[in-house]
Amino acid sequence: MTLLDGKATSAQIKEEIALEVQKLTASGIRAPHLAAILVGSNGASLTYVNAKVKACAKAGFESTLVELSEEISENDLLNEIEKLNTNPEIDGFIVQLPLPKHIDEQKVLMAVNPDKDVDGFHPTNVGKMALNLPSFLPATPYGILELLERYKVETSGKHVVVIGRSHIVGSPMSILMSQKRTAGNATVTITHSRTKNLKEITLQADIIIAALGIPEFLTADMVKDGVSIVDVGITRITDETKKSGFRLAGDVHFESVSKKSSFITPVPGGVGPMTIAMLMKNTLLAAKIRS
Ligand code: GUN
Repeated sequence: MTLLDGKATSAQIKEEIALEVQKLTASGIRAPHLAAILVGSNGASLTYVNAKVKACAKAGFESTLVELSEEISENDLLNEIEKLNTNPEIDGFIVQLPLPKHIDEQKVLMAVNPDKDVDGFHPTNVGKMALNLPSFLPATPYGILELLERYKVETSGKHVVVIGRSHIVGSPMSILMSQKRTAGNATVTITHSRTKNLKEITLQADIIIAALGIPEFLTADMVKDGVSIVDVGITRITDETKKSGFRLAGDVHFESVSKKSSFITPVPGGVGPMTIAMLMKNTLLAAKIRS
């Protein structure tokens, strides 16, 4: 079993990015600038956004965190987005999800200038991605492709089973892995909460991408020997033995499934850190296109 080490791989990618930033700034071009909008004070979102901002600083980026009240109106949020759209110093920005219930997420994502949409969530970028045209790939699927590529996990002709059909992970992942690309050319099955006989399908998988958000859902009896596993889930579970009062669990029962796996991502330290590195890669690309 080989661990797909997202912590080490993302550190390497961030070093590559930092070197590029050094070259850019040495040639007189300003450092890439990422902004993040955080609405409200959801604990997990705050952790993720802070990690993104910290990683930017470490690689020599500029970063701006726009913290807004949970009660902000949709209109006021759209105004904040417009400010970032038109601010020439900002190369790319993200609106951290989830948003409070009174705000229409789709409306918000559509308000982001596609050229600054480093999350790749705007319909223009989703469309380009689906057509395999150059675009900003959503960071989590992009990070998974990068991990599979760098560890040389064979995907061509393999059966990839994606569990979950979210717009952020499951849906784009299923599209990307079926395309003609290095970590692609796979035969893809996308499954979800209405899928019948899921276990019958996962037992046929060479690669499983678990992105459904149910802790330790995928168990050893659901996978074949030699399977490769990408675990996208990250859920806080109450654990009184921890100082924080919680532990992090993936969508995969790591202890049992890892024994049958060729490759597997740990949680934490797998997909999560890759997401941040790929967001930075997108921001660097946005800055280069704009300069
Ligand atoms: N919430 C969970 N994942 C993501 C992500 O990749 N981007 C944003 N903006 N919000 C998220």
